[in-house]
Amino acid sequence: MPTRRLSPRPYAERKGRVWSLNSEGMSYVMGLSDSGQLANIYWGSRIDDETDFARPAGMRYPFELQSKMLREEYPAWGGPHYREACLKVRYNDRVRDCDLAFLEVSCGKSRSDVVAELGDEAYGLKVRLHYKLYDGYDLLAKHAEVLNVGRHPMRIESVLSAAWYLPSGRDWRLTHLAGAWGREMRLERDILTPGKKVIESRKGTTSHQANPVFFVDRGDADEAKGGVWFGCLAWSGSWKIVAEQDTYQQLTLVGGVNDFDFSYLLRPGECFRTPPFIAGYSSRGFGEASRKLHRFEVGNLLPRRFASSVRPVIFNTWEATVFDVDERRALQLARLSSRLGAECFVVDDGWFKGRKDSTGGLGDWVPDPEKFPHGLTPLVKSVNSMGMKFGIWVEPEMVNPKSQLYQAHPDWVYHFPNRKRTEMRSQLVLNLCDAEVADYVLKSMDELIGDNNIEYVKWDMNRYFSEPGWQRAPRGREQEVWVRHVDALYEILDRLRSRHPGVLFEGCSGGGGRIDLGALQRFDHFAGSDNTDPTEVLFTHEGFTMAYAPKTMLLCVGGSTNGLTGREVSLGYRFDFAMMGTLSMSLDIRGWNKEEFELAKRKVQFYKSIRKVVQNGDLYRLAPPSLDGICVREFVSRDSTEAVLFAFSHVLSKASAKTTVRLEGLRHSLRYGIEPGKVSLGGGYLMRHGVDINLGGDNDSVVYRLKGN
Ligand code: DGJ
Repeated sequence: MPTRRLSPRPYAERKGRVWSLNSEGMSYVMGLSDSGQLANIYWGSRIDDETDFARPAGMRYPFELQSKMLREEYPAWGGPHYREACLKVRYNDRVRDCDLAFLEVSCGKSRSDVVAELGDEAYGLKVRLHYKLYDGYDLLAKHAEVLNVGRHPMRIESVLSAAWYLPSGRDWRLTHLAGAWGREMRLERDILTPGKKVIESRKGTTSHQANPVFFVDRGDADEAKGGVWFGCLAWSGSWKIVAEQDTYQQLTLVGGVNDFDFSYLLRPGECFRTPPFIAGYSSRGFGEASRKLHRFEVGNLLPRRFASSVRPVIFNTWEATVFDVDERRALQLARLSSRLGAECFVVDDGWFKGRKDSTGGLGDWVPDPEKFPHGLTPLVKSVNSMGMKFGIWVEPEMVNPKSQLYQAHPDWVYHFPNRKRTEMRSQLVLNLCDAEVADYVLKSMDELIGDNNIEYVKWDMNRYFSEPGWQRAPRGREQEVWVRHVDALYEILDRLRSRHPGVLFEGCSGGGGRIDLGALQRFDHFAGSDNTDPTEVLFTHEGFTMAYAPKTMLLCVGGSTNGLTGREVSLGYRFDFAMMGTLSMSLDIRGWNKEEFELAKRKVQFYKSIRKVVQNGDLYRLAPPSLDGICVREFVSRDSTEAVLFAFSHVLSKASAKTTVRLEGLRHSLRYGIEPGKVSLGGGYLMRHGVDINLGGDNDSVVYRLKGN
């Protein structure tokens, strides 16, 4: 279908004080109410004719103040406000009532950047709401700046990024991601009835249990059709998203930094900036919502240097050696993995001083002289001479009490005086809010990378926060740890990236414990899960790709009998699965026979021939994962001339391992050669009739490459 070109009018202001932000497929309209509030009027599928939008007016309901029933762009707690608010403030004179009035709206040169100003003038509080429209993606990013332009300090008790209002209605369906270590990001679907549904992390980090994204539909959308409203928060600390369905047909979603145990002192002249909340609308189901996000992430968010380049094939030592990595073993694995076609060799945990197991060493970032008597340099040189990049595992935000760092600086961790310091995985969290500690982390990583020609860093984080006491905090700032830690982490990563621009960074947190749009601006990709059983991780891949681009998910070929699930999966299936993202291998290949080597080599070679399409193309989730069915994924190049089709069967009988799948995203005018095999089929046929997939029964897989001409 030809794309409808609309006149580029991203932003329009009408006399009646109604403003609309229009992208190709979405309109976001707000206006000024008679009572002086900036309120949302509409968010959804694009409406070309704006003339009918009237200024917002709250509905009249008994026991409610009309002006408080508006869809306020940035609701603050004050007056008879009973819904979830974005802002709650305590002023210096102990007044806890915030009364925000509209000041002005201005727009930047591109007319897709809009700033609205609100203020509580009596107290010198100003709020700047930033709107950035990403036209080609139908996405709108909102964030807020809260400024103290008065003469007295004030305390922020809650400051969320944005509020999103759905069209009037109820029984909306919320799709979100929930999980745990080893089974991250599984799809959950709830019908929203009056009340609140809170998804959140209070753990100091994004967490394995919930992920800061939402998808809302009327209950009738599927992968290919139906309206879907969605949003993702760009924040790697504690967060919350609240979906509040009231009894007047209004669904509101607010989200941002979690206000649990949080408070922020705002002195005169200071400003608090929230993380962005990026939301969009798809009229073509969940699949198109995901593709908009994927394209946006690759086009705008991922660190620029490697955003559109393909990721190397990685070999990681962890599953082969666990903590027993040393120069000899590493060299042996490096030689074997380079023969398989790996392009980056990563030495995982266990390489540094005092690291025999998880109980010691974190914090002391120098090679263990027993394991690496010559330091890392000779190993790095050998790896480089085999044509591979050298990568290293680190966990910079952590310390083991059994380490030289902790012995010298026991006060560098979060803790409360006279309270137990709870260890998890025998480790404590370093207090990055403290400039001295943050400097140490930056310096030790800077030296490690700079001194050793390290071109790849796997940055891990293996516990959540507890006892978040900041002993040397400036008076009244203790509860700012929840944002200051994340800000400091972002700054360290940003600095490292600018000092070492050629280094790829993998984000890991016991697998997928810290994946979000904030982390995605600093890490080139993420470890998806510590679970390497592809049958399980298919479900995580489903959830992950709802919000995050497939190339940002490292998929790992692990051992044949999975340590976590006990399931045996063929080598071919394990490779086929891991090709649906950034391919990595982490398993003991030292005892492999010739057949295993040859198969793995062929698979890696094949992956290299399709990875451009997988990593930079569009994903269509044609059939979901199931333990009694066939999961099908299709990746299509942006110009639709190439595609890769994956199918994985988990069936009760061989007979049910056959299906016909209709493809998407191809060109009707092209014929596509399909490999393996010598068939050539037309795009129209493939999309309307479909292609037959014959799998051999349970636990079988197949990958087809399609080339159009
Ligand atoms: C957790 C990670 O997810 C694993 O891949 C591995 O790096 C271990 N940590 C090492 O301690």
